[in-house]
Amino acid sequence: MLNIPLVDSTFKEIRDYIYEKSGIYIADNKKYLIENRLSRILKEKGLNSFEEYLELLRFRADTNELNRLFDAITTNETYFFREAEQFYVLSDNILPKLMAQKKNPKNIRIWSAACSTGEEPYTISIILMEKMLNPRQIEICASDISEGVLNSAKRAVYNSYSVRNIPEAYLKKYFLNSDQSYALKPSVKNTVKFMNVNLVDDKKLRAFRGMDVIFCRNVLIYFDNKAKQKAVSNIYNSLNPGGYLFIGSSESLHNVTMAFRPNVINKVIAYQKV
Ligand SMILES: C[S@@+](CC[C@H](N)C(=O)[O-])C[C@H]1O[C@@H](n2cnc3c(N)ncnc32)[C@H](O)[C@@H]1O
Repeated sequence: MLNIPLVDSTFKEIRDYIYEKSGIYIADNKKYLIENRLSRILKEKGLNSFEEYLELLRFRADTNELNRLFDAITTNETYFFREAEQFYVLSDNILPKLMAQKKNPKNIRIWSAACSTGEEPYTISIILMEKMLNPRQIEICASDISEGVLNSAKRAVYNSYSVRNIPEAYLKKYFLNSDQSYALKPSVKNTVKFMNVNLVDDKKLRAFRGMDVIFCRNVLIYFDNKAKQKAVSNIYNSLNPGGYLFIGSSESLHNVTMAFRPNVINKVIAYQKV
């Protein structure tokens, strides 16, 4: 499939539009990304140029149109038990503290804030079950900006790439395997609530308060510094005092915020709201 040509000036306008709506910053040398990922949308819509598409986005875009753009432009790489040490710090160090503080485990809320196809929040759920903590009592919610990945997350059927890091015993216990597909059992599937949340949408984030632990991993890398600050400040406001934030192990809050205290637990950094 041949891509539709994209001139630099239109590229920059589309790039700025995407940035304004999502915080995702596409550098000058990544024009091919827009060409590759959006050409398909233009063809589906019978549009002949990126200029026509830009006009549609600016003047006629409804929620569906924006969702289609976010589905195309986001990078959704994820898998079960990714950077697994963080989940064990949650179950072995942080949750016991939270359980001691709160009278009822029902009051503990964990949020996977850029969950992609759901592997991250479901891993949390599996680990809680393995630690004899009931994930139906502890609230686990998960969100993403892309409606497409949220639909996959709710279906919860995975390929062998996604499940490759899951310990064999858990794979047998929590999945139904046929051919190359692994369907998560309802006992895990039903423990996570999925929502569409854009981390740079301050207004929507105002409804998200009272979280005890937030996982916001491998998404800040797609933002520039200003968007990182916005998303991290929204996350900060969503956390209870003393609550914890996990970011990806290759990410950093350096130059983004000084509002969190970094706690190093078993070589994992858990950022605490002070
Ligand atoms: C690489 S995946 C990371 C998934 C998972 N957290 C992990 O670490 O394996 C990044 C996810 O961030 C989502 N994303 C990008 N911009 C976002 C935004 N502004 N608000 C919410 N989610 C966003 C993408 O749709 C994508 O699913």
